[in-house]
Amino acid sequence: MENNLLYNDYELVVTDDGSHSIRFATIDEGYHSTHGAIKEAMHVYILPNMAQHIGSLNTINVFEMGFGTGLNAFLSYLYAKANNCQVHYTAVEAYPVPKDIYTRLNYAELCINEIQTLYPEADFDNCINDFVKLHTAEWNSATRITPQFTLTKHHCTIQDINLPKNLYHSIYYDAFAPQFQPELWSKDIFDKLCLASAPQVILTTYCCKGDVKRALKASGYTIEKLPGPKGKREMLRAKIESAL
Ligand SMILES: C[S@@+](CC[C@H](N)C(=O)[O-])C[C@H]1O[C@@H](n2cnc3c(N)ncnc32)[C@H](O)[C@@H]1O
Repeated sequence: MENNLLYNDYELVVTDDGSHSIRFATIDEGYHSTHGAIKEAMHVYILPNMAQHIGSLNTINVFEMGFGTGLNAFLSYLYAKANNCQVHYTAVEAYPVPKDIYTRLNYAELCINEIQTLYPEADFDNCINDFVKLHTAEWNSATRITPQFTLTKHHCTIQDINLPKNLYHSIYYDAFAPQFQPELWSKDIFDKLCLASAPQVILTTYCCKGDVKRALKASGYTIEKLPGPKGKREMLRAKIESAL
């Protein structure tokens, strides 16, 4: 995918659950499902992944491929807050979303409402401004958004990033689809993530393609198919075989 396409072609769209997403008109590729960006993020990344560690880990180290709109980060932040859990969230992003787009995203209130329905007693009174804080946080250094949530965004490609060993408990693999960026779904990338994974790691992705399953398996992950979010039959959850 050409960089100039990524920089020049943003279009804000409203998905079926009322939440925004970004779409690249010329290649007809979006950041999220048109059936609902927040619903998809909850279904693919929060509930079958980070939420599974609540109760067994006091601190969860999350790695996200593609920070993008910050939607997964903000939902993770709210979910962790509701559960009084510490999160160190690391994301890599090659092409940051420009300010005039991220300031228009309608996620702050909708994400709070989404998590509040699961945790009616949780107090999100001071969280409304924290969505933008995720975007204004410095690149390439750790920012304490709250005492419980630290964000490190790396402005580089996943191919170039150096990752620590044995660290991440949750990996959100949210790259553009393999037909647009096949190089991001390769064994080389999954080998890198495997080395960076803690034994309890859970990796989830919306993509269930045969080549992706084979590449994950070849890197040492054991995969399971889960029912996909609305509009998709299946999604993938991967764990490290030796730790099962
Ligand atoms: C499907 S979008 C998802 C973004 C984000 N998770 C969200 O919910 O908004 C994929 C993201 O990967 C980023 N990206 C594309 N190529 C990349 C690369 N080689 N390394 C890191 N990020 C990349 C894109 O800029 C985009 O933000």
